[in-house]
Amino acid sequence: MSTTTEPHASTGPDAALDIRGLRLNLPGTARPVLDGVDLTVAPRETVALVGESGSGKSLTSRSVLRLLPPGAVAEGRVLVEGRDVLAMNPGELRRLRTHTAAMIFQDPRAATNPLRRIGDFLTESLRLNAQVPAEEATERAVRMLDAVGLGDHVLRRYPGQLSGGMLQRVMIAAALMGDPTLILADEPTTALDVTTQAEVVGLLDDLRGQFGTGLLFVTHDLGLAAAISDRVYVMYAGRIAETGPAEELFQRPRHPYTRALLDSTPRLTAPRGRLAAIGGQPPSLRQELTGCPFAPRCRLATDVCTERAPALIPVADGNPQPHLAACHHSDQLTEVTADA
Ligand SMILES: Nc1ncnc2c1ncn2[C@@H]1O[C@H](COP(=O)(O)OP(=O)(O)O)[C@@H](O)[C@H]1O
Ligand SMILES: [Mg+2]
Repeated sequence: MSTTTEPHASTGPDAALDIRGLRLNLPGTARPVLDGVDLTVAPRETVALVGESGSGKSLTSRSVLRLLPPGAVAEGRVLVEGRDVLAMNPGELRRLRTHTAAMIFQDPRAATNPLRRIGDFLTESLRLNAQVPAEEATERAVRMLDAVGLGDHVLRRYPGQLSGGMLQRVMIAAALMGDPTLILADEPTTALDVTTQAEVVGLLDDLRGQFGTGLLFVTHDLGLAAAISDRVYVMYAGRIAETGPAEELFQRPRHPYTRALLDSTPRLTAPRGRLAAIGGQPPSLRQELTGCPFAPRCRLATDVCTERAPALIPVADGNPQPHLAACHHSDQLTEVTADA
């Protein structure tokens, strides 16, 4: 866990990322797929965004580069270094994607062209979008490959000649090419074996310190989130259910959904015994929501939960970073103990 967080730079113009009230509507749905998301990343901070599949993690991270599905309508503000991505013109968007924020995806093979050499892939964006001379772009590619632990011989290779782990290192080098202030990593290790996963996570954390980037790490794996992040956002049905400093949130979760996720994660709770699966399903996008979206699956739910949506409010004096939860009954949750 890193210790370089700058607590007062997580909001406002100095934040690497400041998402405010992001609402996203997709065609043919009964409710917003993202519903009032607030999320910040300070410079050099690692923030994890966690939640079950379908909760809206990828759409949140893709919104930062305005990589939205056809017909999607976004409201709210997505500020990267203080400038609103949702209001950018095509030239500004190109600059954003080349120099300011970069994304690493789950499947590195799908993000490369099997017929193009790694060298061309790495230098392409700088050559085409920033008119950087080929020789200079190649020099930078060699430096970035070195930073991710790969030699310059990789420049001449094709994607099919590299292992999944090596290819994901190439994707990280590609993300660093434009010297970004923010890296968005969407389940970057899910396709890798466990050992390679740990290497890639360690590498991302090193590079964040070395290059001074903020990192938004999207994962459904709470163990990984705990290992890498300073702060965590837990997402459920397109809303932030809980957020706080990683250690505090995993030790003293104040939302029953976070608690249920923890109880179904082997590395964070007792190694023995059976894992508790979370019963039921997240709400469908064809369904309008009143009240708390988690209420149908929640063991603490009462009438108020189905009647009124809980606001995301402070639940602890988590100085300097606040601990917030959106639950009417957050005071009823007990601390996670080793033999829980
Ligand atoms: N291009 C799309 N068109 C229609 N629905 C989509 C599209 N992308 C995502 N969704 C829906 O939006 C919801 C959130 O998706 P996503 O952000 O990918 O979730 P996560 O990354 O947390 O698994 C899901 O219900 C998904 O089916
Ligand atoms: Mg996803």
